[in-house]
Amino acid sequence: MSTQIQWYGHATFRIQTNGTKILVDPFFSGNPKTTEKAERIAADYILVTHGHSDHIGDSIAIAQRTEALIISNFEICNWINGQGYAHTHAQHIGGGFHHPFGYVKLTIAHHGSSLPDGSYGGNPAGFLLTLENKKVYFAGDTGLFSSMQLYGQEGIELAFLPIGDNFTMGPVDALKAVKLLKPRRVVPIHYDTWPPIEQNATDWAAQIHQETDSTCVLMEIGDSISL
Ligand code: NI
Ligand code: MN
Repeated sequence: MSTQIQWYGHATFRIQTNGTKILVDPFFSGNPKTTEKAERIAADYILVTHGHSDHIGDSIAIAQRTEALIISNFEICNWINGQGYAHTHAQHIGGGFHHPFGYVKLTIAHHGSSLPDGSYGGNPAGFLLTLENKKVYFAGDTGLFSSMQLYGQEGIELAFLPIGDNFTMGPVDALKAVKLLKPRRVVPIHYDTWPPIEQNATDWAAQIHQETDSTCVLMEIGDSISL
């Protein structure tokens, strides 16, 4: 039993849990922070938080090659079906489902979700995963919201939060998010990919350690973290 979560920069992760490979927001083509290629990454499942190109990314191309099951909201799954890929599982905010690898619940995200061709992508989401009886929270692209306190009541082991500002929470609101979520460990993401979202993550980590009981883990691109 083991779960490893590897970061490819921005909001792109690969989870390996008991031999199952799960990509989250697989943005490889055009991602300035990774040398990994969409053409060679393996996946059994692909989780997509919202329709923006830096999140839906290479999902369809990877799925067509690997036959991965794409899990996203209803509108995005419909759009993917319309692109000619049928192997999807639609859920929506507040709804959870027991997949073979663990429980996946879609959470609130305050953001947009238009698809690359301008189609409506429904409401953006985050993911609260239960893997090996531990909760992992991918906030997705979002601003701060007070219901994070309710998610925190579930007992979060590990939270991945955007701190880039401009498109999502910045460092100040992400610190408030940590105070609401109370994760045992938190990892800042969605920063430094491009100039508008450059942030000093080291300073943010220091603030987390000063003002909360959470441990902030700064991941380098390519690093893995164990659940
Ligand atoms: Ni976005
Ligand atoms: Mn984004």
